[in-house]
Amino acid sequence: MPEIGAKMISVKGSRLFIGDVAASDLAGKFGTPIYVYDEETIRSKVRALVQHVAYRPLKVYYAAKANTNLSILRLIRDEGKEAVGIDAVSPGEIELALKAGFRPGQIMFTSTSVTDEEMKFAIGKKVLVNCDSLSQLERYGRLNPNSSVCFRINPDVGAGHHSHVITGGPESKFGVWADDVPKAFAIAAKYGLKIIGMHQHIGSGILETGKFLAAMKVLLSVISKHKGELKDIEFVDFGGGIGVPYGPDQAQIDVKAFGSAVSKLFSDFCSGFGRQLTMALEPGRFIVAESGVLLCTVNTIKQTPKHRFVGVDTGFHHLIRPMAYGSYHPIVVVDCCTSEKTEKVAVCGNVCESGDVFTRDEHGIVDRELPSVNEGDVLAILVAGAYGFSMASNYNTRPRPAEVLVNGKEAKVIRKQEDISHVVYGM
Ligand SMILES: Cc1ncc(COP(=O)(O)O)c(C=O)c1O
Repeated sequence: MPEIGAKMISVKGSRLFIGDVAASDLAGKFGTPIYVYDEETIRSKVRALVQHVAYRPLKVYYAAKANTNLSILRLIRDEGKEAVGIDAVSPGEIELALKAGFRPGQIMFTSTSVTDEEMKFAIGKKVLVNCDSLSQLERYGRLNPNSSVCFRINPDVGAGHHSHVITGGPESKFGVWADDVPKAFAIAAKYGLKIIGMHQHIGSGILETGKFLAAMKVLLSVISKHKGELKDIEFVDFGGGIGVPYGPDQAQIDVKAFGSAVSKLFSDFCSGFGRQLTMALEPGRFIVAESGVLLCTVNTIKQTPKHRFVGVDTGFHHLIRPMAYGSYHPIVVVDCCTSEKTEKVAVCGNVCESGDVFTRDEHGIVDRELPSVNEGDVLAILVAGAYGFSMASNYNTRPRPAEVLVNGKEAKVIRKQEDISHVVYGM
C-alpha cells in the first residue's frame, strides 16, 4: 500500500476500507467492476492545496479531465468555494462545469488544435479562452475582437511521469515559444485583445518542487521582459502537474514546502512587478487520484510456462494507464491485504490484447507479489481516481463501470453502470 494522501483508504485488520466501508461490502452491494471514490480524500486535497499555497489572490482551476464526474465536480466546488474554478479542455467539460454550478468567470478553456466552433462555444458561454498557438489567437481575435484573452507559452522546460505527458520542451505541441511572444502581442493589438493572463503547463506527475519552480521562473522572466506589452495582465497560471505516489519507491510531495516555495517566488516577483497579480494553478491528479479505487473480481487463474495469470472482469478499457504509460498501480486482495503466503502473479484484464495487463511497465509484464489469489476474490486497483474513468472507453464493445462515492459509512452511486444498450447501437 502506498501512503494515500488523506488516509481514508486504509487497511484494517487485513481488509481494505474506503471511508468506513469495507471494499468487499461495496463489491457485494454494487457488483464489479466498479470505480469507488472517497469523498473526504478529495476534500482534504482541495483544502491542503488552498491552505498551503498561502499566496493570495489564488485561483485553483481543477483540471476536470482528471475526473469529470458531475458529483465530484460539485464536491470540489463546495469544498473550494471561491478559490476553485475549472480548467476545461472541451465544450463538454465547459458544459459539465456549468452544470456543476461553476460560474462562467470561474472556468478557463485551455484547448489544443481547437476548432472555430469550439471557440465560439466557449465565447458564447462567456468563458475565458486560453490560446495555445498563434493560429488560435488570430482566429480568436477574429471571432471575438476587443475582448479579454489568455495565452499559453512553452517554457522549454518539461516534466512528468512519462514522455506522453510532458507538455513543455521541444517535443511538445503545446504553447507559444518565448521567441514568438512578440507575434502574439501583435495579433492581440490587431484585434484589440486584452491579454489578462499568461499560462503554461509543463507536464503531469511532478513530484519534485524544483522542476516546477524552474518552469515558473521561465514564465516570470517572459512576463518581466514584456512588462510594457502586458499592461492588462491580471493573473499568471503555472498549470497543474503536481504528482502523487503510485509505486513503493515514490513519496508524497511535501505540499507545505511546495506551497511556501511557489508563494514566495510569486510574491517576490509581484513586488518587483509593482502589482499583486493572481496566481493560478491547475491540479487534476493531485486532487482526485488517491481517492479512487477500481474494484474487480478474479474470474480466471491460468498458469503458463512463464506467468501465473490472474484474470479479472475489467481491463485497459476501464483503466488505460498501465497500458498507455506502463504506469504502476498498487493492487491488493481486498479481504486479504496482508498474508504470509504470497505468490508472483500477472494481473490481466478481459480485453483481447496481450498488452492488457495491469502489472506491467513500458516494456511488458512485471509479475507482482500478491497474497495467494483465488477465482472469486475481489481485487482493488488503487490510486485510480485520476485519468481512470475519464479515459475509459467502450473498446471490445463492453459497457463502462458504475462510479460510487463513499462518505464515511454512506455509499451512493454517482454514475450508473452502462449496460449493453449503451454499446449496441447504430444506424
Ligand atoms: C493545461 C493542463 N492543465 C492542467 C493539467 C492537469 O494535470 P495534472 O492532472 O497532472 O495536475 C493538464 C493535464 O494534462 C493540462 O494539460
